[in-house]
Amino acid sequence: MESVVNGCIKKKIINFSPGPAKIPEEVLEIAQKELVDFQGHGLSVMEMSHRSKEFESIIFGAEKTVRELLDVPANYKVLFMQGGGAGQFSAVPLNLMRTGTADYLVSGSWSQAAAKEAKKYGTVHLVAPTPEKFGSVPDESEWKFSDNSSYFYHCGNETVHGVELPTTFTSVPGHLPIVADISSSLMSRKFDVSKYGMVFGGAQKNVGCAGVVLGIIREDLFGHARKECPSVLDYKLLDAHTSLYNTPPCFNVYVMGLVLNWIKKHGGLDAMDEMSQRKSSLIYSVIDKSNGFYYNPVDKRYRSRMNVPFRVGGVNGDEELEKRFLQEAGKLHMVQLKGHRSVGGMRASLYNAVTVEETQVLADFMQDFYDRNRV
Ligand SMILES: Cc1ncc(COP(=O)(O)O)c(C=O)c1O
Repeated sequence: MESVVNGCIKKKIINFSPGPAKIPEEVLEIAQKELVDFQGHGLSVMEMSHRSKEFESIIFGAEKTVRELLDVPANYKVLFMQGGGAGQFSAVPLNLMRTGTADYLVSGSWSQAAAKEAKKYGTVHLVAPTPEKFGSVPDESEWKFSDNSSYFYHCGNETVHGVELPTTFTSVPGHLPIVADISSSLMSRKFDVSKYGMVFGGAQKNVGCAGVVLGIIREDLFGHARKECPSVLDYKLLDAHTSLYNTPPCFNVYVMGLVLNWIKKHGGLDAMDEMSQRKSSLIYSVIDKSNGFYYNPVDKRYRSRMNVPFRVGGVNGDEELEKRFLQEAGKLHMVQLKGHRSVGGMRASLYNAVTVEETQVLADFMQDFYDRNRV
């Protein structure tokens, strides 16, 4: 199975990677066409000064599209940062933990890692006990917030465990800024930015390639970074230099801009959300009708639209069946379905660029595999 992209033969595969993940083919085609000569300037984006007019139009254009897609209020700053999603595990407390305390919800391995990192800089108060096994979230009515917290931190979508939280909360005290790591759900649904103090997400899942992190921050929250905060992570400094304090990952910002345009062209966030619900329902439906042959450990209220982890052959998975599942899926050109090493089994990541048709191929294969292997 092959396709031709700008005259180059491309092996056709279906990529369910959790990240770095599939980038829309239309975007790759533009990036390829413009690789050696960006819009007739005779330079590649990789070769041009980040202080040039051309690059400014790229980065400011990307910011404009972020603002449009998410309807970002004027008192929020949009930053393009480095250091990955994990860099923000440090940057958030270094910039925002003014009182020396912050509230964290641990719902999976990414929020757990963020809480661990934040402990280096102050007191981390957990609003609820950490579940023994990730897959659900303690009821919001039971969350306890500390009196002198600087912010409430959570992960909007736990990429490894497939736990996705709602975008609004009823129990978080009104004065407490809400900070969310939305690395793996960024630009997959609308949410009210004004309800948040800050959101951030690495690009490599829904909005491009690894190397750039998008941050959206309410401007009154920063400007109080601890003195040991590295300059390259200091939100105030980055904002003062419109994300050009030091050399940004220029090509990655460019690709993000292309993906954001693609999202806009294809119906914006309502369309992405609707599609992600259709795609994830296709997979959850096969799981739920399989009499336990496929097992997804997540409480149905928190099932992720983006990452669907599942075992094959029962609750703990059957090693032999899971091996065969991957081999057979591979023969049908489906790749990167293996679950995270800490969880095992499978994981289907259904980011924006993965189509409904591609997801249907996986759902059909899962049904067929079940029909042939059920006991
Ligand atoms: C939700 C979430 N947060 C943070 C990270 C860490 O991102 P990075 O590897 O860019 O540091 C990941 C990576 O997969 C993630 O899924």
